[in-house]
Amino acid sequence: MSAQKKRTAILISGRGSNMEAILAAARAADYPADIALVLANKPDAKGLETAQNAGIKTAVVDHRPFKGDREAFDAEIHRILADNDIELVVLAGFMRILTAGFVAKWEDRMLNIHPSLLPAFKGLHTQQRALDTGCRVAGCTVHFVRADMDSGPIITQGVVPVLDGDDEDSLTARILKVEHQIYPRAVALVAAGKVSVEGMRVQINDDALDGSIALIN
Ligand code: GAR
Repeated sequence: MSAQKKRTAILISGRGSNMEAILAAARAADYPADIALVLANKPDAKGLETAQNAGIKTAVVDHRPFKGDREAFDAEIHRILADNDIELVVLAGFMRILTAGFVAKWEDRMLNIHPSLLPAFKGLHTQQRALDTGCRVAGCTVHFVRADMDSGPIITQGVVPVLDGDDEDSLTARILKVEHQIYPRAVALVAAGKVSVEGMRVQINDDALDGSIALIN
């Protein structure tokens, strides 16, 4: 089995709790992704230490010396991914916008998680915006990455209630818990080759699933 595991890189910018959830899942012998690399754009990203403690190879491509030259920054990331024979890229709180050229190279081989029910609330402060808009449900989305920020074919979504007493912190925590459940599962489905894409629609081909992989809490 291990020879067929997809060599996977996780890209982070900070804490890396989604990365940790995927690393934990990937310890199972039958998990179809081998987390071969964790790459951060910030040298002090807390998740780097977590990855190193778990024995995972890490790399840093600090965006600052590139002084806004996004093509060169992305080229350096691509070089490292290629050097490490990476087949699948998982963005987990990676807070840089990638160029269209880079995204095209990884089409349908790069996933992102976003803390909203896309296409609502792209960008930042998604949980506060869900509260401010009076949403009764909120959640998170795992999708294939396309050039437009926080867009692309949706693989799975997790839904949580918005409760009357919620503030940004409580809603963020409720959503994050679900992120940790759906992201390792989505990565596994893609790594196992059970996901196909047609336009913006994703088909999951897994006998164990009964049609939907949305998680409703
Ligand atoms: C997560 O909530 C993730 O959904 C969000 O950043 C957080 C990273 O936390 N990503 C985005 O907003 C991307 N647009 P983590 O570092 O603990 O995984």
